[in-house]
Amino acid sequence: MNSDRTTRHSERGKAPAADSLSIATLCLDQEASSQLRGFLDSMPLAQLVTELQHYLADEQDSVFVDRLKDLRPDICIIDFDRDREKAGRTAERIREVLTETAIFAASSKSQPDLIIRAMRSGCTEYMIKPVDRDQLLEALARVGGRRREKREQTAGQILTFLSAKGGTGATTLAIHLAAHLAQTKKTLLVDLHPDLGDASIFLALPRHQYHFYDLAENTHRLDSDFLQGFVVRHPTGLEVLPAPDGVESPRHAGSEALQRIMEFLRAQYEFVVVDCNPALNEETMAVIDLADHLYLVATPEILSLRNVARHLEFLGRYDYPRDKIRVIINRHMKGGTITDAQIEKAIHKNIFWKVPNQYAEIIKAINNGDPLSIAPRSELMRSLNEWVEALIGKPIPESKKAEKGMFGFLGG
Ligand SMILES: Nc1ncnc2c1ncn2[C@@H]1O[C@H](COP(=O)(O)OP(=O)(O)O)[C@@H](O)[C@H]1O
Ligand SMILES: [Mg+2]
Repeated sequence: MNSDRTTRHSERGKAPAADSLSIATLCLDQEASSQLRGFLDSMPLAQLVTELQHYLADEQDSVFVDRLKDLRPDICIIDFDRDREKAGRTAERIREVLTETAIFAASSKSQPDLIIRAMRSGCTEYMIKPVDRDQLLEALARVGGRRREKREQTAGQILTFLSAKGGTGATTLAIHLAAHLAQTKKTLLVDLHPDLGDASIFLALPRHQYHFYDLAENTHRLDSDFLQGFVVRHPTGLEVLPAPDGVESPRHAGSEALQRIMEFLRAQYEFVVVDCNPALNEETMAVIDLADHLYLVATPEILSLRNVARHLEFLGRYDYPRDKIRVIINRHMKGGTITDAQIEKAIHKNIFWKVPNQYAEIIKAINNGDPLSIAPRSELMRSLNEWVEALIGKPIPESKKAEKGMFGFLGG
């Protein structure tokens, strides 16, 4: 019988905090295990994802390696007391295959030569049992700090688009913004719809064998070469991970797999633009949880605005950071029946960006399958260019600032 215990986040109904550390233990004795669980219950910093009861059997033990690759824990705590040789070889193998994982040794022995050998096999911490709570806390904080630093150095931005009400233009704006960003930044568009996604149609992409959900089922194989088999390249330079084409039944990936993929994609691209499924289900929540910005797209109509207010209320209940949410008013019309002040009063939030109503230009772009084919001097093009400039931090020239008025950056 397999005595290993694995905890799935989804079992607990809510995805863990995105920056919480995941811990796998290997051969940890019962006393140390219950002590560790006691510590972790009281600290949100980390959580136990699995407790394996065996070491790596031999160099060919691919089951063991695949299991750990699948979990990709931030930390492996290996108990060295059961078999020091095997524990050392296990640490070495983990160091080879999971380069991002920190390895801690736990042992009741404190002889310096044993500590040195454990450190040589790849352990960065040596914890004498019974483990001291403060020592563990400090070690976790060090791993968390290193991870944050690395993420800040390499991380791209995740921008998620959510339609407040179907048809407000979330897909359209995600595509246009992504294609504009792709002109200067390595950008990926993810079509996060479990069945029929629209991005492939709007971009006139050829039918592709694989889609995002196929990738999500293979998180243990994620690397940049593997990703290439899933990405479709648009002539504008934008790379796309399409949604399933609706021939099969809707696909699901689970929030953990989605978060793992998003973190991986964030490390590969400067911008990851996600066209979200409008249903605020667990999967959508897992992705927007990681996002740098959530663009909530509405049109200046009562029903659409009422839905913005409802979304804000729902996200507020979920403790979603309000400053990450940016309300986009699409199809905005000068002198429209509902004024901007009325909109902001109704939704209790500033409008972040206004995109003009330019149906002919949008339809032309869709028919051409090319978001960049809108007229360069159109108000739509100007709005999108300025949005991109605000994102990539390029200053908007003085001459433009003066004329910005209608479609400019309002903060929010
Ligand atoms: N700024 C705009 N001006 C005019 N029409 C627009 C604009 N943005 C989107 N549309 C139109 O709205 C339709 C619905 O947009 P879509 O992006 O599919 O919405 P959603 O993804 O929110 O359901 C598109 O077919 C497009 O014709
Ligand atoms: Mg859409």
